[in-house]
Amino acid sequence: MRTRHASSPSYDMNHISKDLLDFGYATSLEKVSQNKLPRISKILALQCATMEAFRTSSTGAPRMTDYALLAEQVRSLAEEDAGWIALLANTTALVMDALPDLNWAGFYLARDATDGSSELVVGPFQGRLACARIPFGRGVCGRAAATGETIVVPDVHAFPGHIACDSMSVAEIVVSLHLDGHVVAVLDVDSPVLGRFSSADRDGLERLVSVLEDVAQRSVLG
Ligand code: SME
Repeated sequence: MRTRHASSPSYDMNHISKDLLDFGYATSLEKVSQNKLPRISKILALQCATMEAFRTSSTGAPRMTDYALLAEQVRSLAEEDAGWIALLANTTALVMDALPDLNWAGFYLARDATDGSSELVVGPFQGRLACARIPFGRGVCGRAAATGETIVVPDVHAFPGHIACDSMSVAEIVVSLHLDGHVVAVLDVDSPVLGRFSSADRDGLERLVSVLEDVAQRSVLG
C-alpha cells in the first residue's frame, strides 16, 4: 500500500478508494497484519466523512436517490399482481438501478429451520453468489431479522460476525420487513464504498420496505 498523508488537503479520493478496496479484499484473505489497522482506520474515517460531505458517487454523479419515486415504482409493480417473488425480484432490480455504488441487493426470506429455530434463506437478488442460509442472530442479516431493526454498517470489517459473501462488499444496510408483528424477510444492500449508506438512505429504504409491508398486508401473495 502506498504511503499517504491523510491530513493533506490534496489527497486523491480515487487512490484512497482503491486502497480501501485493496484492504477489504486483503482482509477477506486474512493477509492484513494487525499493525496496519490504525492507519487504515484513519483513512476509513476520512473516506466516510468526505463521501458524506460531498454526497457524490464514485463516478462523480450526485448520490441522491429519489426514494419517493422508488417507493411509487414499487407500488406500481405491486399492481401487476404477479406474486411476492416477482415483486421482490423487480424491486431488487429497481434498487440496483436507482442507488449508485452497489454490488449486491436482495432479499432473504424467513422460515422455520428443521430444528425449530428461525433462519433466513436467500430470495430474489442481484449480485454475486450469496450465502443460501443464515440463522436468525448471525451476521448482519440475521441480527436485523432477530431484532426487527434496521442495521447500517459503515464498515463490515468492524462488525463482529459479519458474513462475507462478496469480498467487494465493505458497507451494508439491512432493513427488516414485518408482517403481523413478525419479521418475514430482510432487504440486504451492499456497497464497495465505505460509509456508503446515510440516514437518508436508511429512511428511503425503510420507506420502500414499508410499501412492501403494505402490499403484503393487503394481499394474499403467492
Ligand atoms: N453480509 C451478510 C450476508 C449476506 S451477503 O452480504 C449477501 C451478513 O453478514 O448477514
